[in-house]
Amino acid sequence: MDQAPRHDGRPELQLALGDITEQDTDAIVNAANSSLLGGGGVDGAIHRAAGPELVQCCRGLGGCDTGEAKVTPGFRLTARWIIHTVGPVWHGGDRGERALLYSCYEASLALADEVGARSIAFPSISTGAFGYPISQAAETAVAAVRNTPTAVELVRFVCFAHDTWKAYETILDSTVG
Ligand code: AR6
Repeated sequence: MDQAPRHDGRPELQLALGDITEQDTDAIVNAANSSLLGGGGVDGAIHRAAGPELVQCCRGLGGCDTGEAKVTPGFRLTARWIIHTVGPVWHGGDRGERALLYSCYEASLALADEVGARSIAFPSISTGAFGYPISQAAETAVAAVRNTPTAVELVRFVCFAHDTWKAYETILDSTVG
């Protein structure tokens, strides 16, 4: 199948304050752990909203390495697909955290292209339980999405808390689109 982007490869970027489980995008991204069997934070919210079919499906995926991604159906969600990615745990920044976080966004967009998703919503990966500083994570998220060629036309960053939203807004305002 021809995976070539059918637009200029630069999706529209949106910023939203809210719950990722309520997004109407074709795909939503889950900030999972390497087991892919659920957890707290956004992972727990997605599993609760998608229903028990999700964990059953995830059991067949064999886990996921940090910086990589796997896809499942959205089950009871409005989104047709859930792209599960595993962000890095923050250890101070000298253990390849930025490259791994960047890779989460690249791998998620590649999977979105593979399934034909044209819109995708990302949470602020790694910035909760995994402790990644929010402004650095926002910079990496925006850079990765801007620099990764994709057929996805709309990328929405969904922030659950106002300080996260503010960090993204600052980065989006201070960088050229
Ligand atoms: N919608 C959007 N964002 C949310 C939601 C939601 N419903 N709930 C939380 N967030 P975290 P991580 C935000 O901890 O740091 C899990 O247990 C949250 O405010 O969910 O990548 C997994 O199983 C924060 O900004 O993910 C892993 O073990 C962001 O989502 C581990 O946590 C990420 O916080 C992954 O840690």
